[in-house]
Amino acid sequence: MKVTYYGHSCFGIELMGKHLLFDPFISPNPLASKIDVNSIKADYILLSHGHEDHVADAVSIAKRTNAKVISCYEIVIWMQNQGIENGHPMNIGGHWIFDFGKVKCVNAVHSSVLPDGTYGGNPMGFLIESKDKNFYYAGDTALSYDMKLIGDYKKMDVAFLPIGNNFTMGVDNAVIASDYIKCNNIIGMHYDTMDYIKIDKKDAVEKFSNAGKTLTLLDIGSTAEYE
Ligand code: NI
Ligand code: MN
Repeated sequence: MKVTYYGHSCFGIELMGKHLLFDPFISPNPLASKIDVNSIKADYILLSHGHEDHVADAVSIAKRTNAKVISCYEIVIWMQNQGIENGHPMNIGGHWIFDFGKVKCVNAVHSSVLPDGTYGGNPMGFLIESKDKNFYYAGDTALSYDMKLIGDYKKMDVAFLPIGNNFTMGVDNAVIASDYIKCNNIIGMHYDTMDYIKIDKKDAVEKFSNAGKTLTLLDIGSTAEYE
């Protein structure tokens, strides 16, 4: 599994020979100005919820790549109304087997509306299971007891957790979340993009380290490989 960070909560993940793209917010993000949106590969685009900072480039990338959009029903219908026909609607609690592996939609404690005001359904996180790696992409969420269900369900090799505070959980709660999901290998997201979510990165890494865990904060544009 190869993980490339495109800033904020956007990751490109190569898994089982497929390119999965999560929550594309690149062209409006000044921190990601060196990323060429038109060069990003995608076979699948997964959208956790409808907020602008998660869907900004979804339509243009889906149009260019013809990637299949995996999201909640309401967002897939909204994408259809923007001319994106290749969608797979899901909802929390359900799973589906794709050619790269299994996607299970899990609860996220947040809100969701699309940029034009359209109702966005409920925000979600994703559990991805494959013959290569299993991982949890939390989307925007608070710490919640529901995360214990993930820890009891299956071993996740990596978890992508928001750590920026204010709109989502912050570092302290993310450390607790990693206990609940029983995963010690965390990739941080949803931090530093705007003033409300600026964090002390050294302090964040230390807090995870003190709890016996690894917090990885990828540079935007960099790629990490998980063997
Ligand atoms: Ni949000
Ligand atoms: Mn957000």
